[in-house]
Amino acid sequence: MKKYLLLIFCCYNAISTFAQTNKTLSIIPEPVKTVVKKGQFILPKQISISASNKKGADEVSRFLKNKLEVASGSKVKISSNSVATIKLIFLKKADETLGYEGYHLYVTKNGVAIKANSAAGLFYGAQTFIQLLPKEIESKTIVKHINWVAPCVDIIDYPRFGWRGLMLDVSRHFFTKDEVKDYIDQMAAYKFNILHMHLTDDEGWRIEIKSLPRLTTVGAYNVKKIGQFGNFSAPTPDEPRTYGGFYTQDEIRELVKYASERFINIMPEIDVPGHSLAAIVAYPELSVTAAANTYQVHSGERLSVDNTLNPSSEKTYAFLDKVLTEVAQLFPFGYIHLGGDECTKEYWAKSDSVTALMKKENLKNYEEVQSYFEKRLETIVESKGKKFMGWDEIIEGGLGPNAAVMSWRGIKGGIIAAKLGHQVVMSPTTFAYLDYMQSDRITEPHVYASLRLNKSYQFDPVPDSVDAKLILGGQANLWTEQVYNFRQVEYMTWPRAMAIAEDVWSAKEKKSWKTFFPKVEKHFERLNEAEIKYGPGVYDPSFEAKVNADNKLEVEFSTEVSGLDIYYSFDNSYPDRFYPKYTEALVVPKDATQLRVITYKGKQPIGRMITMPVSELQHRADARKKGN
Ligand code: ACM
Repeated sequence: MKKYLLLIFCCYNAISTFAQTNKTLSIIPEPVKTVVKKGQFILPKQISISASNKKGADEVSRFLKNKLEVASGSKVKISSNSVATIKLIFLKKADETLGYEGYHLYVTKNGVAIKANSAAGLFYGAQTFIQLLPKEIESKTIVKHINWVAPCVDIIDYPRFGWRGLMLDVSRHFFTKDEVKDYIDQMAAYKFNILHMHLTDDEGWRIEIKSLPRLTTVGAYNVKKIGQFGNFSAPTPDEPRTYGGFYTQDEIRELVKYASERFINIMPEIDVPGHSLAAIVAYPELSVTAAANTYQVHSGERLSVDNTLNPSSEKTYAFLDKVLTEVAQLFPFGYIHLGGDECTKEYWAKSDSVTALMKKENLKNYEEVQSYFEKRLETIVESKGKKFMGWDEIIEGGLGPNAAVMSWRGIKGGIIAAKLGHQVVMSPTTFAYLDYMQSDRITEPHVYASLRLNKSYQFDPVPDSVDAKLILGGQANLWTEQVYNFRQVEYMTWPRAMAIAEDVWSAKEKKSWKTFFPKVEKHFERLNEAEIKYGPGVYDPSFEAKVNADNKLEVEFSTEVSGLDIYYSFDNSYPDRFYPKYTEALVVPKDATQLRVITYKGKQPIGRMITMPVSELQHRADARKKGN
């Protein structure tokens, strides 16, 4: 009888554990192992956090104190007393499974304990604990009448990769120090640990270099233009060149410290030898072009001037030595990224001095000229005690001995580099370009390509054919040509960076789109509480237009999320759920001028009201017929 009762008890426990796993937890990125226990932890009004005085413990305690006090109104005391509500415990004997960033989180009715080998692990455990609390914990002001409870759990977690990056382009549009801090906080919540700052480009030089003041007095400003970047009218002399800005060295130090308190390293990028117009405008002697004296920092008009540094001039290397001396001192992170992408060779080809260099160094083509430049740069970087990283174009003329490669034109550059024994970070356009449109191009600021959430979720940084040890990890990149303000930075980043977070943190076998997307929806609610903007495009349908066998224009829809209903109109009115529901391909009525579409989840409108001109559908159908 006893045995029988025990069996019933075990079954009940297993079922209730299973039910709670599905019902209550929405942790992103998905942990390695989660066991939901019976019961709840109730956050008291007076909370104590204990931690040993080991390095980094303060940061974790402060993070928790701030997060818990702001929204719940609880009072948090930090002490070294071992009797505490939340205990942060450095493991005395290293747990090999957890590694450097892993943690073990126990939530019981009586309290919370996080155990880790390092402060970084404690921090990630704390982030997971916050995600167990009600969404209102994300509020920036006190929220009353909330049951501040977390389910009892036992979570063991550690990342798949040590490199979990996001890149923010602060050159095309400048974002203030405080905005970058907000970005860092947002990244930390999803356990990213590298912020790659694209600090220089044709539109602005964003970091103070004391020995080269014109880089920021001249190179940091352009003309403010609004509209479609790349197609702006050429600036006229009467338009003020006051738009932009830069980070002083004090501000950089402040950002580095702020990031490190959140266990994030900042990797600076100085993009050379292409994308260097801002530097050339400040110091025209860096270019092979005599006309460089008349150049101006790009403002988003069509680029028609030489934006490359002269690889054949010692002045270029002396310049880069000065820049890198200061950059290396400001950023403690081991790598400096030196760009190397999209370097046009047309001006080098017209230069006698580059021709002379090719002869002297026996360089057979301009890729080898760039390789000569990159190898010299690698030596300079290493002389500052740093490691060299560049975009995958640096492979083309031959890689320098220790260069690490960031593969963006797909993963093939990364595969080549890894096969040559070089370290690689994968950040392919196909999965990880956050500047791409998230939904149909009719709804988004126009960029030349699209990347939907479910595609970002398919990113696996390790191809079968390479030594996994050489793949440091993965990264998503937010270029900001079409991103004019910080709200749009957020919109472009979330939710796709949630997918990337899971791609680079979670164990491969723990990933599942079916379980991931419901979690994303829970996190939308958390972002709402935090007043962080996100792209809702995942709820919008994709449109497929074609000319059918009867020579009629036809349109089909699909959604990346299941369970949505699509309602439509061709009569210029705004559809709701009492309109026709899409079930099969629609033939566009002969005289219709626009199609309107909205998705619903049950009775709730959830997608945006999309207005699609019939002329656009016709254009797409014609393009499809022509095969492009
Ligand atoms: C890049 O997207 N040009 C690296």
